[in-house]
Amino acid sequence: MNISERRADFPILNTQMNGEPLTYLDNAATTQKPQAVIDAISQYYLHDNANVHRGVYSLAARATDQYEAVRDQVAAFIHAPQRESVFFTRSTTDSLNWVAQTYGEQNLQAGDEIVVTALEHHSNLVPWQQLAQRKQAQLKVIQLTSTGELDWASAQQQITDRTKIVAVAHCSNVLGVTCPIQKLARLAHQHGAIIVVDGAQAVAHQPVNVQTLDADFYAFSGHKLLGPTGVGVLYGKLALLQTLTPAQFGGEMISNVTWEHTEFAPIPQRFEAGTPNISGVIGLGAALTYIQQLGFAAIQTQERQLTAQLLNGLLTFPDVTVYGPQQVAQHGPVVAFNVDGIHPHDVATGLDLAGVAVRAGHHCAQPLMQVLQVPTTVRASVQFYNSAADIARFLAALQAVKEFFQQ
Ligand SMILES: Cc1ncc(COP(=O)(O)O)c(C=O)c1O
Repeated sequence: MNISERRADFPILNTQMNGEPLTYLDNAATTQKPQAVIDAISQYYLHDNANVHRGVYSLAARATDQYEAVRDQVAAFIHAPQRESVFFTRSTTDSLNWVAQTYGEQNLQAGDEIVVTALEHHSNLVPWQQLAQRKQAQLKVIQLTSTGELDWASAQQQITDRTKIVAVAHCSNVLGVTCPIQKLARLAHQHGAIIVVDGAQAVAHQPVNVQTLDADFYAFSGHKLLGPTGVGVLYGKLALLQTLTPAQFGGEMISNVTWEHTEFAPIPQRFEAGTPNISGVIGLGAALTYIQQLGFAAIQTQERQLTAQLLNGLLTFPDVTVYGPQQVAQHGPVVAFNVDGIHPHDVATGLDLAGVAVRAGHHCAQPLMQVLQVPTTVRASVQFYNSAADIARFLAALQAVKEFFQQ
């Protein structure tokens, strides 16, 4: 990969923060956007703006064609068996809440079990916790090993014949680990449960095949894979979707309405009530095109090198604790750490002064922070468009922050 050419595709990467070159290492929170995505959104508003699925005029047809073409693109991107299995939401959070509010509401009974893991983001925990409370179901947690990976013995113990839903992140937004989705899906299915996968941290970094994973539902956000905010995706197995009553009602999702009765539109329109985020979906399409042109082989090679430099660099500091696996082979592009005696917010603020953007906090995973026995951590996360110079600047800035606080 020609990294300087790729960086030139992302206008914001050539700007400054606090008088220093921007070193953006908060990619797990949201990715930067290439010019191609920005252009696709403005192109739509400049030349193609109309509502979708409604007008008979050419402009409306053009907007509809572009919107629906992205559905095909997403289906191909995650290897969905058919386009009807894919519908657009606002975000991963919205997608996961949708599953809880439809499948969960319509299938759970008192005494049933929902199983999550100890590394879940609040988005894949709170909707299930609240559903369990509404249904008097039990929320159970698969524990982690000492290196932050899923404890398989715990998975086998927690998933039982009472389990109806297993909800798990494909990749952790804190520990940098990938969960064994295929294996978990087999276990869940053996017990008659479905598996709901939070793909927010996976889709930008590895090819996803929902059929090989055997995921019943798979959720992700556009903004974490170079696309705009405000657009998300939910994939669902068609046979499951066909059993579900929509969560929202109104325009777009009907085929016939009388005072007494409504016939719903076919899937997937049935699940997209109201005017969708048309420009967001078109922007997401441009992001997928960009990623596909680059290819995951090149993306993964670059990200593995950057992760190795980041992780190994952090491990050279004797007073830095890295959470999750310490070997690059097991580590995705997200690294959470703490520096002895310096508050994570002070570390992040010190780095900010050197133009380095990292996250400090609980990363929307407060129960995981309890497991790690820390209130918060610092988190640096890379994307293929980061350079070796970015990581070197980060490590040098961290050394300077340590010297400042430890003198
Ligand atoms: C693992 C994981 N799940 C879910 C989310 C929620 O994504 P969004 O805020 O786009 O809904 C995030 C965002 O950080 C995440 O990292």
